[in-house]
Amino acid sequence: MTDKRTILIVENLNVTIKNGVTRFPVLKDVSFTIREGERWAIAGESGAGKSMTMNAIAGLLPEGSTEYTGSILFHEKNGEWMDLLQMPYQSRRSFISEQIAIIFQDSINALNPNERIMKQWGDTIRLHHPEMSNNDVENHILDQMEIFGVRGGHETLHRFPDQLSGGMRQRIAIAMALESEAQILIADEPTTSLDAITQRNTIEFIRGLLDRRRWTLLFISHNLGILQYMCDHIIIMKDGRIVEQGETEELFQSGKEEYTRQLVSETRKIMGDHEVCDE
Ligand SMILES: Nc1ncnc2c1ncn2[C@@H]1O[C@H](COP(=O)(O)OP(=O)(O)OP(=O)(O)O)[C@@H](O)[C@H]1O
Ligand SMILES: [Mg+2]
Repeated sequence: MTDKRTILIVENLNVTIKNGVTRFPVLKDVSFTIREGERWAIAGESGAGKSMTMNAIAGLLPEGSTEYTGSILFHEKNGEWMDLLQMPYQSRRSFISEQIAIIFQDSINALNPNERIMKQWGDTIRLHHPEMSNNDVENHILDQMEIFGVRGGHETLHRFPDQLSGGMRQRIAIAMALESEAQILIADEPTTSLDAITQRNTIEFIRGLLDRRRWTLLFISHNLGILQYMCDHIIIMKDGRIVEQGETEELFQSGKEEYTRQLVSETRKIMGDHEVCDE
């Protein structure tokens, strides 16, 4: 069908969270395959298992209280396949931070509360571009602040994260994550807490980056309008299972499963059939 390189294969993934003697199965037999340059969405009602899927791939579920079966196969740039679930926890974390750029819904997790914004943003850039002078790093940060609507110039940069509003922290966390040279970007409700204009700018910026870098995307949102605009493939989840998956337009027009049709029509009702990112 295509000669694009396969980059991620999630195969029969089951995840169970243990809490004392109680066990909660949260992902059940989840399987999908993503090829290089494809843009995948995960949609579904609250509690469907969207974040669990992303956190399992990103190695963010707590070690010790999480049980896995199945596999998460990742294709490295050098051609090797790695099963993330077979890697020891620490090496999995560092492997993932090199290979996958991640944006959370909640920027509290992404920023270091003990470092000024200038220091952590600068360190992130220098990690990917050690050749850049301090002056260039600073100018780059000021340019990015403009794009993401981070106001206050140097005064903002010299603050600690908890001295900024939630929306401001989120913009900075997104801008920092997008400095990464990773092959794949995973974003879980990245723009939900942003105002409409910043949301649109951020979505446009991410789209531009995806085109320029040929990045592969896995994007989670409740906003089907944004998913339709950003993503060429979609996975519909419910109760920890995949209900249906395929090309976005096809599923939106003629989803085979009743739940998919329901989700699309409910969203259209709420949004009055306007796409959020319509031109
Ligand atoms: N620590 C935990 N222990 C047990 N169950 C959990 C835990 N964290 C999440 N769950 C359950 O896992 C299921 C999937 O949660 P998940 O966060 O993936 O949902 P989601 O699709 O991302 O929902 P939302 O749209 O609200 O973000 C839910 O039923 C949730 O209650
Ligand atoms: Mg979630």
